[in-house]
Amino acid sequence: MKIAVLKEQASGETRVAATPETVKKFIGLENEVAVETGAGANASITDAAYAEAGASVGSAVDVVKDADIVLGVQAPDAKALVGAKPGAWVAALFDPFGDKPRVESYAKAGLEALSMEFMPRITRAQSMDVLSSQSNLAGYKAVLAAADTYGRAFPMMMTAAGTVQAAKAFIMGVGVAGLQAIATARRLGAQVSATDVRSATKEQIESLGAKAIFVEDVAGIEGEGSGGYATEMSDEYKAAQAKLVSEHIAKQDIVITTALIPGRAAPVLITDTQIATMKPGSVIFDLAVAQGGNVEGSKPDETVVRHGVNIIGYSNTPAQLPADASALFARNHFNFLSAFWDKEAGKPELDEEIGNAVRLTRGGKVVNERIKG
Ligand code: NAI
Repeated sequence: MKIAVLKEQASGETRVAATPETVKKFIGLENEVAVETGAGANASITDAAYAEAGASVGSAVDVVKDADIVLGVQAPDAKALVGAKPGAWVAALFDPFGDKPRVESYAKAGLEALSMEFMPRITRAQSMDVLSSQSNLAGYKAVLAAADTYGRAFPMMMTAAGTVQAAKAFIMGVGVAGLQAIATARRLGAQVSATDVRSATKEQIESLGAKAIFVEDVAGIEGEGSGGYATEMSDEYKAAQAKLVSEHIAKQDIVITTALIPGRAAPVLITDTQIATMKPGSVIFDLAVAQGGNVEGSKPDETVVRHGVNIIGYSNTPAQLPADASALFARNHFNFLSAFWDKEAGKPELDEEIGNAVRLTRGGKVVNERIKG
């Protein structure tokens, strides 16, 4: 099999889908790996390092020519894949709900699109899950960016000139990113509290030494849909949550929001009226800003100042940590394909559960139930 790794095309994308470590591992499975010149440059990986690992390094056209599998972070335009084998697999992020034309173009080109964001949230797929690996880094970076923007310190400091108070940080949404944000804010010395709609997170918050802020005694409180995803909450719940948050938020210095619901715009968790109750100089980091935002008025890659509060958020947070984000993304790809490697056939054969979940296109058609129609 020939595995191709292209330089990412999306603006601001610094990551790369394979590292010398995973190149070696794929070669160990008797594949040929081709990497486009400069593909790893933004992630501090040189062409020489790929070559040393055994890859051939060359132009995009040479890399794609006769490829059986293309690995990407964000899926390339289908027209960049002309020359790949008919029916070639492309494993990458496809934004399947948001970018239907791209999915259609893959179907038309006869490619098999494998959407890494559709990896099911099941135990055996944990090591293949890019949303997890990237969210973890994003949660960490969100806290660092907020700390950097904040005009005060995070830890309490007792100095000869007087005491500096600890910052109060509130994490909204305690999935993978939120848990890492709690841990990071605690390490920096903040007093941390957190909330989520899934009641199962209460214990996780407390086990990290943070305070759990939860709506009690409202119907539909479990908040958990299939696969550990949050569900849309009842109006009664939303009203109770808004009240609780309003009271709590007015006392916070740092707020990190991470709430996502798959296939829908991110829920608005903080309104402009609530922002107005916060202290000037407070910082809100909106990790959902690229999916519509959890915070009213937030804009990707801009600092918006509302009522003296700084609202920040990156369009692509993991891309701010390109080396680690690439290393983990690349391992997710390897763990995914190698788990299904049929040594005799010399290629991967996806099983039904994971194959049906991630496969978007096949045989010229869109085949995934979640996006069909
Ligand atoms: P996510 O990125 O889908 O959402 C982030 C968090 O926001 C979630 O905890 C969600 O409950 C919360 N949220 C949504 N709406 C909210 C609202 N209105 N107010 C407050 N919070 C709200 O979640 P993520 O990080 O992917 O993790 C969700 C769960 O799935 C976790 O328990 C995680 O451990 C599990 N998971 C399991 C995997 C596996 O087994 N392979 C892989 C990835 C996650």
